Amino acid sequence: MKIYFRKLAVETKAAFDVNAANYLADDIHRGEDLTEIGLCLAQASARLGRQVDVLYAGVGPGHLAARLVASSADIRAFYGLDYSSRMLALARESLGDCGTARLVRQDLLDPDLRRRRRQSFDVCLLLNNTLGNMVAAGGPVEARVRCLEVLHEVLRPGGSCVLTVYDFHRLEGLNGKYTPKLKILEKTSDGDFMLKLAANGHSHLFYSHWFTERELHGLVESAGFRICAEARRGQRLIVVCERT
Ligand SMILES: C[S@@+](CC[C@H](N)C(=O)[O-])C[C@H]1O[C@@H](n2cnc3c(N)ncnc32)[C@H](O)[C@@H]1O
Repeated sequence: MKIYFRKLAVETKAAFDVNAANYLADDIHRGEDLTEIGLCLAQASARLGRQVDVLYAGVGPGHLAARLVASSADIRAFYGLDYSSRMLALARESLGDCGTARLVRQDLLDPDLRRRRRQSFDVCLLLNNTLGNMVAAGGPVEARVRCLEVLHEVLRPGGSCVLTVYDFHRLEGLNGKYTPKLKILEKTSDGDFMLKLAANGHSHLFYSHWFTERELHGLVESAGFRICAEARRGQRLIVVCERT
């Protein structure tokens, strides 16, 4: 099974790489979580009495990152992390010459993340269902748990985190309209999808998971977070949580 999951992890990463340039380019839902993110940044900054250091894990092509950095006066340093070099190249273009932002190529599930970076943050962002795309050799469930543990590890005491995932109860929203190159091969009753992405004469398997509210609560709480605000918008479930 490990061999299969390792291959699925490699394929999913390759799918992000090849699809980077047109990744959800016309996603009308992008930014539905900006209110919660803005509030989280403002509250963290008020609590600390200074601007905050932000880690955006899975920064993707940087559209939302650019909007955040341009619009928030609460950010001191902004780190965008992604394992896809093509996503990072686009994020570099989106963020332009902005002095506060640094982009880092790294797998969030890399066990050495904390030791190698020797960094911690006041606010972590994991948006647009990035949590639902995590796969590791031990499988996606283990990857989701590990991912939240990593965020907990790199967050400073009292720090907070915004997570946005896709809502299992709004599955009908996944249609061919804004993901024309993604074909659903298989889906399970517990929210797992196996999709195929065809691009440039190649096709890649792509893993995605959609969450119930209960499942999301269980995951974040068992990783050591306390949920302090939540919202349901469009296809998104949004939780703001604090490191306990
Ligand atoms: C669903 S996209 C979200 C992109 C962006 N946050 C947005 O809102 O448009 C997920 C992003 O996370 C990255 N990603 C997925 N798994 C990762 C991992 N284990 N480590 C680092 N980046 C990862 C992908 O390359 C992709 O850019």
